[in-house]
Amino acid sequence: MKISQNTSIGELVKLNFKTASVFQDNNIDFCCGGDKTISEACKNAGLDPEKLIGQLELIAEQNDADSQYINGLSLEELSNYIVKRHHSYVRESIPQLQKNLEKICQVHGSHHPELFEINSLFTESSGDLTMHMQKEELMLFPFIRRLELSSKNGAALPNSPFGPVSNPISMMVAEHQQEGDRFEQISKLSENYTLPEDACTTYEITLRQLRDFENDLHRHIHLENNILFPKAIELEKNLTT
Ligand SMILES: [Fe+2]
Repeated sequence: MKISQNTSIGELVKLNFKTASVFQDNNIDFCCGGDKTISEACKNAGLDPEKLIGQLELIAEQNDADSQYINGLSLEELSNYIVKRHHSYVRESIPQLQKNLEKICQVHGSHHPELFEINSLFTESSGDLTMHMQKEELMLFPFIRRLELSSKNGAALPNSPFGPVSNPISMMVAEHQQEGDRFEQISKLSENYTLPEDACTTYEITLRQLRDFENDLHRHIHLENNILFPKAIELEKNLTT
């Protein structure tokens, strides 16, 4: 793929997820901000777009089997993959992280008061993400599967409880943005997950878990915002015309 200043970030990361690390290293949001072009993102971040394109081209030359696999999935397969791989990870990680955050707040909170803020942001995120994933699993993803089935069978557009599929998608995208913002704050408060000198092993593990959680969330949101949702909107459009 020829990369230009007008290339969309989400489209590039969709074709080759390895390019995500270049955006991450340059503090460019590739998941919630995937609809921006390289030129727009560089303008916001104060970067030279041609320099960034040079870095991206080096990475994009490498084959990414993972992205090829994802792009070959049907919408039903992709939504199942997201639930199995990312929703399960979120559900499994929350109790452990909450327990560890409580512990380090008790032990280190007096010297590191930012831990209390991180803990409260993570608690808010845990509750909201749990509800968000339920909405996707119970309402949106089953509707996307029905859309795909109708398209395969040449059937009519399925009845929708929420109007066009872009309505619940807009709501999910706004919720992704909220989580992205929360984790940006967590990352800033922890100085990009930097370990203080007086940290204990639990402190170290907790910061690593938080960083992993944020990275996983970025891929999770990318798969929905930049791949699943645009494909679902396109499918519905084709069924109505
Ligand atoms: Fe989501």
